[in-house]
Amino acid sequence: MNKELSQAFSEQINKEYFSAFLYLAMSDWLNEKGLNGAATWTYVQYQEELAHAQNLFHYMQYRDEPISFKAIADPSGNWQSPLEVFRHVLSHEKLVTESINNLATTAMKANDHAAYIFLQWYVSEQVEEEASAKEIISRLELAGDNTNALLMIDDQLGARVFNAPVVPGIPTAGA
Ligand SMILES: [Fe+2]
Ligand SMILES: [Fe+2]
Repeated sequence: MNKELSQAFSEQINKEYFSAFLYLAMSDWLNEKGLNGAATWTYVQYQEELAHAQNLFHYMQYRDEPISFKAIADPSGNWQSPLEVFRHVLSHEKLVTESINNLATTAMKANDHAAYIFLQWYVSEQVEEEASAKEIISRLELAGDNTNALLMIDDQLGARVFNAPVVPGIPTAGA
């Protein structure tokens, strides 16, 4: 792997851990507000982000590339409502999408077809991440100030369960 690509992979691992940490902070905030379903949803999202980081880590090990570790930023938010939380989910995922696309472009420019193919799973995953955030935002906007509607959405969000993603291209996929 060339140096620039290797460095970009390390940075992406840090970003996935930051994403996990951000969703954990959101889960705590939602739990404090009594929105246990949304707290569950963001906790599952935290688990998914951990898996994203872990699978990048395994890929780097598979390629025998050293990883450079950096501190994970403070994820504390200043949210005022569940709608603000989920708008933050969407804006954050858009940043991650950009980062994944840049990483894939770096792999392509480095003529590293293996890394480019490996990253396709992440490219598709980001489409899903943005779509699910948008869907939740739309429902919360429809609910507006209606507490009954909010609690119904919260119940639905609480049904989410974690399924370890299987990422092709690594021997330890889904670890
Ligand atoms: Fe992710
Ligand atoms: Fe994500």
